[in-house]
Amino acid sequence: MAYPIKSINAYNRAIMLDNERKKNKYAVLLGDSKSILQNISSDSVDLVITSPPYSDQRKQTYGGIKAEEYVDWFMPIASELQRVLKPTGTFILNIKEKVINGERSTYVIELILEMRKQGWLWTEEFIWNKKNCYPGKWPNRFRDSWERLLQFNKSRHFYMDQDAVKVPIGDWAKTRLSNLSDTDRIRDNAKNNSGFGKNVSNWIGREMVYPTNVLTLATECYNKNHSAAFPQDIPEWFIKLFTKEHDTILDPFLGSGTTMLVAEKLNRSCIGIDIVPEYVEMTKERLSDIGLIYNEEEGCYEPVIY
Ligand SMILES: C[S@@+](CC[C@H](N)C(=O)[O-])C[C@H]1O[C@@H](n2cnc3c(N)ncnc32)[C@H](O)[C@@H]1O
Repeated sequence: MAYPIKSINAYNRAIMLDNERKKNKYAVLLGDSKSILQNISSDSVDLVITSPPYSDQRKQTYGGIKAEEYVDWFMPIASELQRVLKPTGTFILNIKEKVINGERSTYVIELILEMRKQGWLWTEEFIWNKKNCYPGKWPNRFRDSWERLLQFNKSRHFYMDQDAVKVPIGDWAKTRLSNLSDTDRIRDNAKNNSGFGKNVSNWIGREMVYPTNVLTLATECYNKNHSAAFPQDIPEWFIKLFTKEHDTILDPFLGSGTTMLVAEKLNRSCIGIDIVPEYVEMTKERLSDIGLIYNEEEGCYEPVIY
């Protein structure tokens, strides 16, 4: 199995890891995604999942992009992601606009519109509901406790394994389904003419049901050495939903390597990129801690002229 990577710019280092037994490949690439992505083969990635730097945040650690420059900064990267993603693939973008001068910034909305012009389908918006947010007091708003998880696709016919993310039906079912009325046993159309209808008896005997598009997850993360790591549950949920074993996942803003560790746990291959050498090094250490072997022979490090 070959890496879907053509060659790496001379000033960049590529850390390639193998899991020969499981037949998966891992590549951690150092540099700016805008250029590094050009080394990844077209139509080779099954899922892109990432959390890029949000506008004007974390300037001290890895630089912040101004809200008014964000769309121009991101669009060349989006174009490369579109090229490397398979037609059946999915792109999940974790992002949230902040408040500037008392108003929510609109750069995420502008980005969605621009990406649609670029040819992406904006298929869905999942919400990450941060269930363990601390309370707080602000003069004109309440604590922000959710983030966007935007789903983009190249085609309407993308791979999706809905059964992989089923959830327990919940305790409500025990009482609700134990005493059904006559109406519960037929399709009951809503009285408000909304067109919504349900047959409650359809749920009898079911233990697992499909989830909603709201993911209620704790913000806690297993890695305290990166200021903006997302919890492992986020990549885990989307990797299960949108990929199969041995598929290839890409995170172009890898940070502390969360996506790659989860990909490895779920028996998928993964490519990650980050611009900060310390973060690349951190991922490398985390991967060797779980026993991945460095592949010194994979010497595709010839310079690329951009
Ligand atoms: C929000 S963090 C990602 C955190 C990651 N999801 C995790 O769990 O650790 C964004 C990352 O993007 C990296 N970054 C910023 N600009 C970049 C660029 N142009 N190319 C590649 N990586 C970049 C930062 O160094 C940072 O680690």
